Amino acid sequence: MTVHYELCVEIAVLAADNPPVNALGVGVRQGLQDGIARAVADGAKAVLIYGRGRTWFAGADIREFGKTPVPPMLPDLCNAIEAAPIPVIAAMHGTILGGGLEVAMACHYSICVAGARLGLPEVGLGILPGAGGTQRLPRLVGFEQAIEMITTGRPVSASRALEMGIIDKLAEDGAARDLGLAYALDLLAQGATPRPVSQTPAPEAVDFASLKQQVAAKARGQLSPVAAFEAVEAASRLSFTDGLAEERRLFKTLMETDQRKGLIHAFFAERQVSKLPELAGVRPREVSQIGVIGGGTMGAGIATAALLAGLGVTLIETTSEAADAAHQRIAKNLSGALKRGKITQSEHNELLHIKLKTTADYAQLSTADVIIEAVFEDMTVKKQVFAQIETVAKPGAVLASNTSYLDLNEIAASTTRPGDVIGLHFFSPAHVMRLLEVVIGDQTVPEVTATGFALGKRLGKVAVRSGVCDGFIGNRILSAYRTAADHTILDGASPYQIDRVLEDFGFAMGPFAVADLAGLDIGWANRKRLAATRDPRERVPQYVDRLCEDGCFGQKTGRGYYVYDGKTRSENPDVMPLIDAERARLGLSAQSFSDAQILRRYMAAMVNEAAKVVGEGIALRPLDVDIVLLMGYGFPRYHGGPLKWADLQGLPAILADIDGFAKDDPYFWQAAPLLRDLVAQNRTFDDLNKETGT
Ligand code: CAA
Repeated sequence: MTVHYELCVEIAVLAADNPPVNALGVGVRQGLQDGIARAVADGAKAVLIYGRGRTWFAGADIREFGKTPVPPMLPDLCNAIEAAPIPVIAAMHGTILGGGLEVAMACHYSICVAGARLGLPEVGLGILPGAGGTQRLPRLVGFEQAIEMITTGRPVSASRALEMGIIDKLAEDGAARDLGLAYALDLLAQGATPRPVSQTPAPEAVDFASLKQQVAAKARGQLSPVAAFEAVEAASRLSFTDGLAEERRLFKTLMETDQRKGLIHAFFAERQVSKLPELAGVRPREVSQIGVIGGGTMGAGIATAALLAGLGVTLIETTSEAADAAHQRIAKNLSGALKRGKITQSEHNELLHIKLKTTADYAQLSTADVIIEAVFEDMTVKKQVFAQIETVAKPGAVLASNTSYLDLNEIAASTTRPGDVIGLHFFSPAHVMRLLEVVIGDQTVPEVTATGFALGKRLGKVAVRSGVCDGFIGNRILSAYRTAADHTILDGASPYQIDRVLEDFGFAMGPFAVADLAGLDIGWANRKRLAATRDPRERVPQYVDRLCEDGCFGQKTGRGYYVYDGKTRSENPDVMPLIDAERARLGLSAQSFSDAQILRRYMAAMVNEAAKVVGEGIALRPLDVDIVLLMGYGFPRYHGGPLKWADLQGLPAILADIDGFAKDDPYFWQAAPLLRDLVAQNRTFDDLNKETGT
């Protein structure tokens, strides 16, 4: 049973019991509807609803989306609650989200325990609040605040919800059931009667046209915030009943979109990605002290993330001056956290002056449980650092490299403890970016893998398992789609057209703007590193080396593909002549590409490499690749990740594109065997996710 009924003196108490988050699945909806009817039949004077376990309803049951809906439907349930002839009281704690908040707003009175979060996060799942939320919230808080809350999906604290008028009462602490009963008795003593929000007139209209523009601009191609806006706006011109019908219409439209499928895939993939069958029953090692070697941007970011997670940090630099500079970098990161209210002044002082040590003395690493090197990306340098680490690290310490490309097995083999060696590939800035690639070498023992994942979780990261290959999951795939973009330039497109196409697709920045941000010198160094072993059939553009030779490294030098003036960018006039000269040198005549052709090439390269990464076992499942691209490479979440996107497009069309492109460049365009197999078997990447328990 998912809703328990109990008559407590004159109050019918409905206790939701659907762990872990009391999602409003069909059983809960039926239980609530039956409970209200039974309360009336029993002659109760009021109904109290609360959730057992960790929370009030955290929303509709997302697993039901896309399936045939089973009544009672949530909007009907909310209407039935509101229409009850006796007061219905919500007593809430935990996370009051989505349909959960809609049920609360349908109740006549509400009390909430401090520490709770209330919100309508539906837009983040590609839908909108579909159970009256878009009609009831503006009647409670006004249009402006309702639009803000619904179109951003951002939750508010219980005390803010009280100020806004979403709830009636706030309790500092206590059990929801006890607080609710006391409140219900008070209300009955005062002669309280039902108070349906639907009968409150709609609030004063606002400047909808300009608000809509702002919402659309922020949505950057995502449909749900704009549709959610339209549903709220409908409350200003339609009756409550007609407003509900309009909300339903828009809700159903969104439910059918690929964006909804992509966003829900992302939601579940994010939770699935750190669940590794190989780690069942494996205990991670204890971690309280971290060593970081190298205090540049990356090392300082890793140290900051560890400090903010409550870990002690010893950071090693080559000289005491460099150690001081690293200290200052971390201080700057921490003052950002202080400004954003993540830590208090006294916590800031403790982290910086007690929990953090910066030094040039390796011996200080002897107490570290995990040592992470974040030094220059060069095999010889890394091996020297690992040799030094070995002399001081205690037995059982996890020895981690933050390398983003290099062969972890070679690094591990240079030590006497290869089982303790792991890759922890953070993304810059490491205290902000949520992705962590946990790279498992041939000899890494499961306990060390488990420790990498446990540390990732502690740091608030989404950890993804990667096998060893050049660039691991993310940078390897990046290299393929960047190469496709480079080829498209040699063949006739401009970097600016490519950036615009990808930005229209939903990336915050196109690949060439990203290259400018990362620093063109990084790609330059990488091209030089790979030159000796490069296959002569590979097409590598050289015009960008000319830019680098001129000291144009991108944003940090003010010039790269673009010229930067503060935050605004404009095309660098030197770039197209360099490209033209290279085309002339190679005897290529520029073809013209439509935006759609550019997108197809770029995505085909990304999907193909991703399929190789999965097929070779570098990534465990397609969803692992999706999460890496979503969390670390700016792939638009509403497309669900490259392999979800590929499924939604249809794999045969993508394979046909690759085979078509291969006619001109059979070296680069070699279809992934996994992609061919899936097409031959009429299967999808998501079928593979399901096989591995998603
Ligand atoms: N439906 C189904 N399952 C859900 C769920 C939901 N609404 N919310 C969470 N779960 C599942 C998770 O998938 C996870 O399952 P596994 O253990 O099998 O992985 C489990 O519950 C615990 O979730 P988390 O790991 O996320 O736990 P957490 O403590 O970190 O976070 C939470 C809890 C804040 C509630 C978070 O799960 C969350 O944000 N959930 C989604 C909330 C949401 O978006 N609600 C709106 C739903 S849409 C809606 O309500 C539409 C409407 O108007 C009709």
